[in-house]
Amino acid sequence: MTSSVKPPVVHRDAHRSIRDPRYGYHSFEIGSFKFQRDEYFVRVTYPKGTYVVDVGNFLRAMMRDVAWGFFYGWVNFDEVFGTVNRYGTVDVFVGSYNAGYVAASTDFSECFDSATLFTCFKALLKDWTNEGYDPFAAPLETGSPYGSRHGNNDQAVDFQRELADRFVGLPGDSQPRTDARGFPVNRHFDDVPQHEPEVHAEPGFEGQLAAFNLFAYLSRSPVTWNPSVVSIVGESAYCPTSEEHILPILHGNDRVEWFLQLSDEITWQVADKATAAPRAVITMKAGDVAAMPADISHRGFSPKRSMLLVWENMTPGLEQRYASGELAPTAAEF
Ligand code: PHB
Ligand code: FE
Repeated sequence: MTSSVKPPVVHRDAHRSIRDPRYGYHSFEIGSFKFQRDEYFVRVTYPKGTYVVDVGNFLRAMMRDVAWGFFYGWVNFDEVFGTVNRYGTVDVFVGSYNAGYVAASTDFSECFDSATLFTCFKALLKDWTNEGYDPFAAPLETGSPYGSRHGNNDQAVDFQRELADRFVGLPGDSQPRTDARGFPVNRHFDDVPQHEPEVHAEPGFEGQLAAFNLFAYLSRSPVTWNPSVVSIVGESAYCPTSEEHILPILHGNDRVEWFLQLSDEITWQVADKATAAPRAVITMKAGDVAAMPADISHRGFSPKRSMLLVWENMTPGLEQRYASGELAPTAAEF
């Protein structure tokens, strides 16, 4: 007997949207999904039911999904709804990785062309984000997401990370740092020294050696839970970030991912990736290092702004090697 796995149907039709006169927001339809918002909630209808969620939680998660181009693997908005990046296509699901939904057969998943889904999600995020609300900001540093449609915050929704032209500080790097970036030191980081390191190159190496104060840079980050890239060596990417309140997604890894807690502390809730069953609660303090396994989802809680280094292995095809079982889900076995 031969078994064959049918390739998924990929939806490529553009989304449709119409304005709801009650609240002023557009509703968005793509594939079998319909997304609507009112003053407080988002309602997603799909062939097997309805999913309802607080609009602030939804917009914070959607902001990351859009800004990160669907990220690595699973972007769970919560234990029920989310996306899976298949690199070229994206699954949108309700309940597919939740044991209760699967048992009740109310789970549903549909596959979309990445660019088509991206256009829909970006349009939705712009339409549903009101003036004064920044979904990338910590809740204490921005306004309210609620109410009928008023204005927009395209500047926040279009936030782009700064890209260095070459190693920061070397000739040819045009990015301003510290004060010149125009971002003040965050209120939680006013004890972070702001001076830049002194660099004394040996004769003959002038202009080839540079250093900068990463803590000073991170202390001025205007956004939270948004890793930037400070170095790429081969397939290894160092992604530092400044964190406050709750990571707006539960990230389901498709590879092992390392965390280095650079300052303060973050508590992580770790769950089974396939069922959402809780697996561990870990508090990481400054200096702690963790290797998050490839078969879990994780969500961080940072009671005060903290600095975290996320270390990603970008080796192409790694997700298939973990998914097939060729690689063990943990970085080391004891
Ligand atoms: C993660 O999912 O690993 C993650 C995402 C964003 C962050 C930190 C960690 O800011
Ligand atoms: Fe992660």
